[in-house]
Amino acid sequence: MRESVCILGSTGSIGTSTLDVIERNSQKYSVEVLTAHSNHELLLEQCKRFNPKLVVLVDETAGKTLKTQLTECELDIEVETGSEALNEAANYPGLNTVVAAIVGAAGLLPTLTAVKQGCKVLLANKEALVMSGNIFTEAVKQYGATLLPVDSEHNAIFQCLHGAGLGQENLLQGVHKILLTGSGGPFRTIPLQDLQTVTPEQACAHPNWDMGKKISVDSATMMNKGLELIEACFLFETDINKIDIVVHPQSIVHSMVSYHDGSVLAQMGRPDMRTPIAHTLAWPERIDAGVEPLDFYQMSNLTFEAPDYERFPCLKLAQQALNRGGSAPCVVNAANEVAVEAFLKREIQFTQISEVIELTLKSSEIFSPQTIEQVLQADQSARAVAQSIINKDVH
Ligand SMILES: NC(=O)c1ccc[n+]([C@@H]2O[C@H](COP(=O)([O-])OP(=O)(O)OC[C@H]3O[C@@H](n4cnc5c(N)ncnc54)[C@H](OP(=O)(O)O)[C@@H]3O)[C@@H](O)[C@H]2O)c1
Repeated sequence: MRESVCILGSTGSIGTSTLDVIERNSQKYSVEVLTAHSNHELLLEQCKRFNPKLVVLVDETAGKTLKTQLTECELDIEVETGSEALNEAANYPGLNTVVAAIVGAAGLLPTLTAVKQGCKVLLANKEALVMSGNIFTEAVKQYGATLLPVDSEHNAIFQCLHGAGLGQENLLQGVHKILLTGSGGPFRTIPLQDLQTVTPEQACAHPNWDMGKKISVDSATMMNKGLELIEACFLFETDINKIDIVVHPQSIVHSMVSYHDGSVLAQMGRPDMRTPIAHTLAWPERIDAGVEPLDFYQMSNLTFEAPDYERFPCLKLAQQALNRGGSAPCVVNAANEVAVEAFLKREIQFTQISEVIELTLKSSEIFSPQTIEQVLQADQSARAVAQSIINKDVH
């Protein structure tokens, strides 16, 4: 029997890499459900290649176009539209595995729906976990879901922790520190005064990874590392004092775990998301990911350094949010999403991203959400605050 897979966000960078791995292992996996926001052209291509049973496009006009095109191609595939239909996708009968690869807060509800199905959830959508923290991890336990981290750093840490399942007692037994590595992005060494005028194109040109626009900008501000720090605390049920951020520009070591006996275990590989995707798809087995092994004879220096908080104020803001707890990580995440979108639309400068987040955090009421509805409320109010800060600045 092949494993039935749903990919939430199949047209994105993680989504397309997942389909590449599945195609190489088609005897093991069958693609049942695919979702996207509005990219009907790519979704049509994916329908032709994988013949899923259900596809969802959030955008209604794009959905109508896809329906017509599928009929013309004589493909009998159900098409649903609207964001509610994402939950239907994650809840599709008979699914074994759901890949959570939607970008941003939009991924929270469908990912939680998948968790509540009790199936295997491959988590790329870090924003869902950052927003809802313990509510999310408690749901994983309550519904008996298997949560596996796709984010390369968390996947590396997971592999260095004896590969034991998340949520298990003594997961961090003997661990001195988790060493969360990050490349430092495209602006690690440019003069500080030039940061103000960098363009979205420069911010999205990551030196090592090929990713969606939002996470590329997050890597340039290092907010991505901040969100990953929060994600790691929830995934590995630990606190900020147990995790050090290490800048490693070559992106060969994807993270490390340092043990009390002096051993440090590192997971290494090429910067290609197909490796962690294949690892989580097949866990605890191993499958071909189409990724060449490292060639140690050709490898140049591997370097490591401490993060520069003056250059990357977003990193400090994420740490502050983690220390404050409650809805603070959700507020930072929401303000960051709004600010990054404004930067990509050229409404604010690169250096204003951290300013918007800082002001939003200062102006937001921080409380302890007990339900997902309260998480969504915190998200919505923070977005409104961030947007009004941007509007004041722009107009
Ligand atoms: N890319 C990486 O290497 C990488 C690494 C680690 C973690 N991640 C995480 O993985 C997630 C996806 O990243 P990505 O780089 O793959 O992003 P991406 O390339 O921008 O793709 C995002 C996907 O989500 C869909 N989408 C966007 N907005 C949506 C909405 N409002 N409702 C429903 N679907 C929506 C997009 O559909 P359309 O194409 O129709 O817009 C697309 O399928 C993020 O949380 C990111 O932090 C990514």
